[in-house]
Amino acid sequence: MSKRFYITTPIYYVNDKPHIGHTYTTVLADVFARHHRMMGEEVYFLTGTDEHGQKIEKTAAARGITPQQLADEVMPNFENLWKRMGLTNDHFVRTTHAQHKAVVQERFKQLLDTGDIYKATYKGLYSVSDEAYVTETQAKELQTQGLAHQLVELEEESYFFKLSTYEHWLIQLYEKYPDFALPDFRLNEVKQFVAPGGARGNLQDLSISRTSITWGIPVPGDDRHVVYVWFDALLNYLSACREGFWPPTLQLVGKDILRFHAVYWPAFLMAMFRQEGEDLNGELPARIRALLPKTILAHGWWLMGEDKMSKSKGNIVRPDDLLRFGNDAGRYFLLRDMQIGHDRSFSFEGFMERLNADLANGLGNLASRSLSMLQRYRGGVVPVAVLFDDLDREVAEQGRKIAPVYLALAEKHDFSGALDHLWAYLRYLDGYIVKAEPWKLAKDDANQAKLDTVLCQLYRSLRATAILVAPVMPELAQQLWESLGMAGKVVEQRFADFQYEASAPGPVGEPKPLFQRIDKETVMKEMAEPTLAAPTAVAETPVEYAPLKENIDYDTFSKTDLRVGLVITAEAVPKSKKLIKMTVDLGFETRTILGGIKEAYTPEELVGRKIVVVANLAPRTLMGFESQGMLLAASDSNSMPYLIAPPADAKPGFIVK
Ligand code: MSP
Repeated sequence: MSKRFYITTPIYYVNDKPHIGHTYTTVLADVFARHHRMMGEEVYFLTGTDEHGQKIEKTAAARGITPQQLADEVMPNFENLWKRMGLTNDHFVRTTHAQHKAVVQERFKQLLDTGDIYKATYKGLYSVSDEAYVTETQAKELQTQGLAHQLVELEEESYFFKLSTYEHWLIQLYEKYPDFALPDFRLNEVKQFVAPGGARGNLQDLSISRTSITWGIPVPGDDRHVVYVWFDALLNYLSACREGFWPPTLQLVGKDILRFHAVYWPAFLMAMFRQEGEDLNGELPARIRALLPKTILAHGWWLMGEDKMSKSKGNIVRPDDLLRFGNDAGRYFLLRDMQIGHDRSFSFEGFMERLNADLANGLGNLASRSLSMLQRYRGGVVPVAVLFDDLDREVAEQGRKIAPVYLALAEKHDFSGALDHLWAYLRYLDGYIVKAEPWKLAKDDANQAKLDTVLCQLYRSLRATAILVAPVMPELAQQLWESLGMAGKVVEQRFADFQYEASAPGPVGEPKPLFQRIDKETVMKEMAEPTLAAPTAVAETPVEYAPLKENIDYDTFSKTDLRVGLVITAEAVPKSKKLIKMTVDLGFETRTILGGIKEAYTPEELVGRKIVVVANLAPRTLMGFESQGMLLAASDSNSMPYLIAPPADAKPGFIVK
């Protein structure tokens, strides 16, 4: 039986739309999942939504809908986004699913029976935002941070989990198995929380029921209480686990929720899995360790400048901002730019610069140069290398090492380091081309074998790159794979079978650009003015309604092909009162379009705007220029034309219907 790999993301609250933070974790999980599939492992990849608790109850109440309606409305934003991005999660769990609720109740009951959960009265402070009771030390911390307003005095009956009795086992878990929580500096924070300065007796029992809200899973046998949202949420990993995959191999979390995953979660599991006779003050049994998650990996935050992103600051990066240059580009950027564990500040300029430097130039250039030389000098047939000089031997040596080094870094969860290493290698190959000067070798009959060597090594390196980056950029890797003349799907390759020097099966294809260079200025402008403003000069006259045209049937209408276009250039047509000539990007091609809008818009204000184009109208010549389509505008007989503007997120080429 092949090795199993069970990977999870946190389940996301349904009181907000997905943002870059959610996207980052889920993409990272997808990359791990794909990577481990290519390692030949059986993978189970789980994500989902966290639908109970006070936050959801409050948001729903504010909107005048039920929490279930809110959950049903928001959940698809996540599920559909992951589908649209081609993520390969095997399941999507919702905590409102009957199956999940049954497991939570069953486990709650089990712990009541074993005495790990007991009922008592809590009197003290409660943090509304964290939905948690607060110790005196924690209360002081909040006060010094100016967050005392979040605290309320509370006296209520509650069910408690005996967290304190698991302190000894938890400390052993951290000491003996330091890969339980990574990176190490985050594990240290966890240790500090459980045993500050090594002092024992700090962990207090945890309240795991609420009477203050009703939106949750009822406590079995006492439905005045609902189960605390974190007990409910953490159990998703168990309730939605696929048979045979327990325990999780890798659980990804943000640093803010590490405590829940590295303290409460293993303690709950210890309580669920422990057997009679196992001493809570003795050694942590190896049997128990083997039933706990192997590794909880905590990543840092994407920041805007120095700030955390938040709705109130209006500085949230949404997934579509990241996906505007394609899924793969967004994935590459997220993986390459974030070093796991640390925070990273996001900038659109940095994002575009990274893509231009690494994908359009770096890999894109190397691939197109190499493929064109293979075409030009060898008719696409890959020659075999015979090593000539020290440089060739060094290149071959580096080539043999690239996969093992990349894979070793990925094994340490360091994709940023792995990609950095691979791109340094690609730059090294650029240097090899410069030194070897294949264009000069080609001119001399005596140097044909040396040219074979250079071309073959470039080919092998690109093939290695296609395989290694397939989990990060599946589409781009497949395109590269095919242009190298390789058959089948690159994602079906197995890393273990890969040989740098394996022979080349087929002739290589024509070089096609792997990634279009981004015009930063145009994009920045487009983003600064996401929606189309009104024309500069508008007559303030009453609307004059034109009579309706006669009815047509749907088939007649549907013959019109309307597309979103992006104006790339615009100039006034000389001697014409009305016409502006534009170059418009339709996604799949660029067109010249003339529009009678000169009295309403200046050419400058059109560049970077999105418009709607009738894309299948027969071309027409106007003032000596061929117009290959027509733009749509609204007007009455008195007014200037108002260009029809698609929403900012619509991409060139989208069909308007
Ligand atoms: N529902 C809980 C998780 C329960 S898991 C049993 C939750 N949900 S959340 O939707 O608020 O956050 C989910 C994840 O998004 C967390 O891991 C959090 O760290 C992450 N992020 C939220 N903002 C982030 C950034 N700006 N950057 C990176 N990740 C961040 O917590």
